[in-house]
Order: sequence, then C-alpha cells, then structure tokens
Amino acid sequence: MIRIDSVTKRYPDGTVAVDRLSLEIPDRSITVLVGPSGCGKTTTLRMINRMVEPSEGTILIDGVDSRQQPVNTLRRSMGYVIQNAGLFQHRTILDNIATVPRMLGWGKDKSRARARELMERVGLDGTLAKRYPYQLSGGQQQRVGVARALAADPPVLLMDEPFSAVDPVVRKGLQDELLRIQGELGKTIVFVTHDIDEAVKLGTMVAVMRTGGRLAQFAPPAELLSRPADAFVEDFLGADRGIRRLSFFPSTGLQPLTTPIVTVDATAEQIAAAGAASAPYLLVTDADGKPLGWSEPQNLTAGEITADRLLPYGRPFVAATDSLRAALDCAVLSPTGWAVAVDASGRATGVVSQQSIGEAIRGAHAEIAADEARDADAEPDEGDKVHKVAP
Ligand SMILES: Nc1ncnc2c1ncn2[C@@H]1O[C@H](COP(=O)(O)OP(=O)(O)OP(=O)(O)O)[C@@H](O)[C@H]1O
Ligand SMILES: [Mg+2]
Repeated sequence: MIRIDSVTKRYPDGTVAVDRLSLEIPDRSITVLVGPSGCGKTTTLRMINRMVEPSEGTILIDGVDSRQQPVNTLRRSMGYVIQNAGLFQHRTILDNIATVPRMLGWGKDKSRARARELMERVGLDGTLAKRYPYQLSGGQQQRVGVARALAADPPVLLMDEPFSAVDPVVRKGLQDELLRIQGELGKTIVFVTHDIDEAVKLGTMVAVMRTGGRLAQFAPPAELLSRPADAFVEDFLGADRGIRRLSFFPSTGLQPLTTPIVTVDATAEQIAAAGAASAPYLLVTDADGKPLGWSEPQNLTAGEITADRLLPYGRPFVAATDSLRAALDCAVLSPTGWAVAVDASGRATGVVSQQSIGEAIRGAHAEIAADEARDADAEPDEGDKVHKVAP
C-alpha cells in the first residue's frame, strides 16, 4: 500500500502546491485524484515516484519510507503514463513499448515478444507494430503509452490525465479498456483527472483536491455522490449528481412484467389476452424473442404485424446487470415510457414502467439509509455499501 502521510510540497519560489496531504492508496484498485487546474494533482503523483521530492511529510510504500529506496528501483516499480502518451517519435511502436525491458537488459527478442503481448493486451492491432507514433491516432498512441508503462510488469501505475486529449467516444473506449486491464492484472493505479465523471467511473476511491493542494474529500464514488463533504465538493460534482448516483444502484430490484410481450407471429387470441392483461402498450418481439417495437393492442392484427409500423423501443437495458440509471434512461427514451429489459443475448425478458423504476429508486434509498444508520451505530467508515454496476 502507498501511504501519503501529511505531505507538503513547497516549490523554490514559495508556491505551496500540496498542503499537508494524507491519503491511503489501497492495493490493486484505482485511486483517482481529481480537482481544478493547479490544485496539486501532478505534483502529488510525481512525489509518489520521487520525480518531485516532498518538502515535508513522508510517503510510505508497503510501510517503507520511499526515500530509503534507490530512486531507480522505485521508478522501475511504477509505470508512468502522461497526456499525449509522450512517445519517442523516432522509435517504432514496438520499440517504444519495449523501451523499459530493453533498459532492464532483457535482450531484443524477449523485449519485443513482451511488447507484442502487450499490444494485444491493450487492444492494439499487431499490424501497427512497425509504425511510428505520428502514424497513429491519438487514442492508439494513448494505448501505446499504457502498454509501455506496463511493459516491465510494475505493481504500480501512475497516470496523469492520460485520456484528456482524445474525443469523448475514444475516451470512453480507453476508460473501459483500463477497467478491463485492471480487472485482469490487478495493478495499483493512481489516476489523475480534472473530469469528475471520469473519476466516478474509474475510481474505487476518489480524492477531491481543492486549490492550494488540500484534500477536500476522500471517499468511494457512490459516497461522494450521496454525501459530498462540503459546498466545494458538491459544486465540483455538478448539478445532476442524483441521476449519476443511480449508476451505483443495481437494477436487480426491478421485476419486469412478461405479460405485455407478444411475438410477431402471435395469434389474435394471444394479442387479445395480452392486451386485456396489460394495456396500454404491447412489446412485439421477433420469433427469437428480440424486441422489435411497441404497439397499442388494438393496432395489432394477427398475421399482419410488421416492424416498420411499430413505435421504437429505444435502448433496452440488461436486467440485473445494468444499473437503475440505465433502466431509467431506457424508460425516458422510450416513447411509451416503458423500459425494455433484455438478457445478455438481447432477448426481451420483460418490460418495466417508469413508476416501478421510481419505486425501486425509493427502495434503494431506504436500504442505503438503513445501512447508514446501522453503520453509525457500529464502526464508522466500514466501506462502500453499494457496489459498482455498469452505468
Ligand atoms: N516547478 C514548479 N515551480 C513552481 N511552481 C510550480 C511548479 N510546478 C507546479 N507549480 C505550481 O504548483 C501548483 C500545482 O501544480 P500541479 O501541476 O501539481 O497542478 P495540477 O493539479 O496538476 O494542475 P493541472 O490540472 O492544470 O494539470 C500550481 O500552482 C503550479 O503553478
Ligand atoms: Mg497536472
């Protein structure tokens, strides 16, 4: 574990970049440092690998003062990724990734084999190996940066706004990729961003810093959204934190109705029965159970149902796997106000009204309130009560 213990950084010109910061960075998880420009995020990250030396306080790595380790040993145990990847422009992609293993004396073939393995790991096509950085897109370069940092298999990865120079779609892809890699490799990652959405999505723990290098709050994202420590954190989280908090509520509590579902080849009796049981709208699926669209039962004629005459169903959510936020989004996007639940293979498993999603949200709130009351009675800070689910 990395422990930052009352660390201050005063630059020679007198600027206090970090002010008595204390943080316990848990192993094998992603800790995000977030805050406005100039609040000391980069300085903090660089103090961890001693590219910047603290003025006061100590940083302990697995209980040992980082100053007691030779700086080279320390840096070798920490991969470092920066914005725009910082690649060597005159080296091929493969040789960029192989840089650290080569420095460690691994030999050319072994280093390149390792580099190829890492290209695959970060989702880069092997055909890019012989290209130079300028021949790659921003997102691809960023992946190379991650692969290079992982090359010597360091237990720690320090990442300073690695995805901020790419467009939102590529950025989302890189974030998903990082979560996948983290799931597979279990690195201890310290990730700097000024984007609170990125922090909430990636962080197991999130440290919100304020100007002057002081810690405003250190908490799991769900707790940050539900209980911001003060007005600064609340302001930093933005206006729609209630909706975003729903990302942490699983949709397992919802009970999708199956009665309003008919297949495209339904008989007149089946349509009538479904309509009687569940008006006002029926969901029509293909023969395989995949959703096609909505219709009022009186507009459905057996044997004459075609997809182009149905109302669109929006975007379905995966029952139980997706969050209540995803379910609510589906319901809001659906012209009927009902969300379509599907299984992992895309077959409709039921439909859910906005009203029942509202009830599930109220239920989740009540459950959390009960948990918090129990926590207050027992040990404080026992940990996060809600689990992260797909947003
Ligand atoms: N070498 C330096 N000498 C003097 N002051 C510095 C130096 N490096 C950084 N600072 C100052 O320290 C403060 C924190 O800088 P730092 O780069 O850590 O912020 P940051 O949170 O990473 O900001 P950003 O989001 O813009 O990257 C700023 O006021 C900055 O001007
Ligand atoms: Mg910075």
